[in-house]
Amino acid sequence: MRSPSAALPLSLLLSILLVSCSGAPKETDAASRPDTVSKTPPTDATQSTAKATSQPAEAKSVKPGINKRFKDPNMDVGRAMKMFEGESREIFIEKVKIAKTLDLADGEDMADIGSGTGLFLPYFTKGVGAKGKVYAVEISPKFVEHIQALSKKKKWSQVETVFCTDKSTKLAEASIDAAFICDTYHHFEYPQATLASIRKAMRPGGRLVIVDFKRIPGESRKWILGHVRCNKETVIQEVTAAGFVYVDEIQVKGLRENYLIRFKRP
Ligand SMILES: C[S@@+](CC[C@H](N)C(=O)[O-])C[C@H]1O[C@@H](n2cnc3c(N)ncnc32)[C@H](O)[C@@H]1O
Repeated sequence: MRSPSAALPLSLLLSILLVSCSGAPKETDAASRPDTVSKTPPTDATQSTAKATSQPAEAKSVKPGINKRFKDPNMDVGRAMKMFEGESREIFIEKVKIAKTLDLADGEDMADIGSGTGLFLPYFTKGVGAKGKVYAVEISPKFVEHIQALSKKKKWSQVETVFCTDKSTKLAEASIDAAFICDTYHHFEYPQATLASIRKAMRPGGRLVIVDFKRIPGESRKWILGHVRCNKETVIQEVTAAGFVYVDEIQVKGLRENYLIRFKRP
């Protein structure tokens, strides 16, 4: 894990992070138990920055245009389902193991941020039970519409869609016990603003799980290097800078191109 120098002022550190995260926009994007938990001890950097809860929100998008097709009011949901819900996607294959890492309990309230086609909703609705709540948070009008229809069809009374913005999840203060961000963190155009809204919405002790692509030059596929703006270490730095504490990384057997990391809200 990269440790930022303690001597660097915060503003300089943030500039370095933004530069290291830049990448050319590209429109390609292509649930048993997790196997190993790597209790990588949080570095001094992640521990200390976890206390800094008021990071300045980004003035500009960190990845302009990355959500263009999702925001399209005419987006083809069927096409998106073929892309996100197929055997060629490791996240689809390992969805049960992934969903279990949230450790959902009966009656809890959770948010699936960037719910997409609703791939994880069967597991989250089961996880929180009839008395819990699942907020399906989306910036895509077509996915919101799709999830509303799906929830009605499946009789998921605990699902509530939230049509959010680029800068806020629009979740009410202290309304959730857990949040899930799968294949979506790299789509956040204003990560600090969005993370601040998640932190505000989360009750103390709440859990956050992030699944995203590994971005390793020389190892990751070329389209990932172009599409995903930053690596795991940078994501950890950004999330801890937003006031979350890094907990662990879970090695989910079957995930090769993606990592899964967990955080807590103090
Ligand atoms: C690649 S899809 C992943 C969907 C789903 N999580 C899955 O893994 O199947 C990314 C999703 O994030 C949504 N998204 C992008 N930026 C967002 C934001 N700031 N807040 C909420 N959702 C966002 C997009 O509309 C899209 O549905």
